[in-house]
Amino acid sequence: MVSRITVVAPSSTANLGPGFDVFGLAVNAFYDEITLTKKKTKGVRIITKDDIPTNPDKNTAGLVVKNMIKKFKTRDGIEIKIKKNIPPGYGMGSSAASAAAAAVAFDKLYQLRLDGNSLVEFAGLGEKASAGSIHYDNVAASVLGGFVIVKTNPLEIIKIDPPTNLRMCIAVPKLKVPKKKTKVSRSVIPKKVSFKDSITNLSNATAIVVGFMNKDLELIGRSIKDVIVEPSRQYMIPGFAKVKENALKAGALGVTISGAGPSVIAFSKSSADLKKIGVAMTKGFESAKTKCQTIMCKPSIGVSIKK
Ligand code: HSE
Repeated sequence: MVSRITVVAPSSTANLGPGFDVFGLAVNAFYDEITLTKKKTKGVRIITKDDIPTNPDKNTAGLVVKNMIKKFKTRDGIEIKIKKNIPPGYGMGSSAASAAAAAVAFDKLYQLRLDGNSLVEFAGLGEKASAGSIHYDNVAASVLGGFVIVKTNPLEIIKIDPPTNLRMCIAVPKLKVPKKKTKVSRSVIPKKVSFKDSITNLSNATAIVVGFMNKDLELIGRSIKDVIVEPSRQYMIPGFAKVKENALKAGALGVTISGAGPSVIAFSKSSADLKKIGVAMTKGFESAKTKCQTIMCKPSIGVSIKK
């Protein structure tokens, strides 16, 4: 019988422009690590050195484990040890990675053999702790790896292997982010969308899917255009327009907000271009007197068990 398990889960970028709450891509920038240990004393206890909530009802991994204990009527207490490497609140799927790792770890600990869709569904429950509502784009990417499409009602995740030469530069601005940043940045999204704008986003989103299927990086890049969410959120990111313009001028194929921001992600077809793009994005943020860190990365596999 397994009594302890450690899993790591990758960071991710959501939306990729027009695919709000639908597209996710696992990226190898950072990995969160979760260890679950069965305990004799009932209840869920969180141990961490990081600045995150330790109340299980307010912690993404805690919420996932509590829900799974209830659903599968397991009798042990569970200790959750969390090592966060993904900076929380910057649009890199930090909360989702911990939630994804927790769901997969629980599945392995009790040998439940849940399928990918069910694991994503449980992991999604954790997003409620930070985003206020459930969305599956980041957790799906983190659980399954690669590029994912979230089809809802009923939930079904479609995974496509990204082109092997896809590279990204993520510029993470040094800004103080609100505690419930995703909730805040979801509150600025328009409640109503014009028919014309929904068609524009639908056509770009469809083209992105074809780009991933055909491993056509140019098509992916020129379809990363969002006329609905990005225009309403960009004001939360100092210098966004300049960061985007600079990255495109430096050769990026497409540029958008990473998830709910404030990080900005640029897509490229080779590592050689990334340095130039990173410098260009840094200058863009500097134009708004904001410092940033640039991270060069590529697509990642999903959650894995640490041996
Ligand atoms: N799709 C979500 C959003 C991702 O943009 O609000 C949050 O990381």
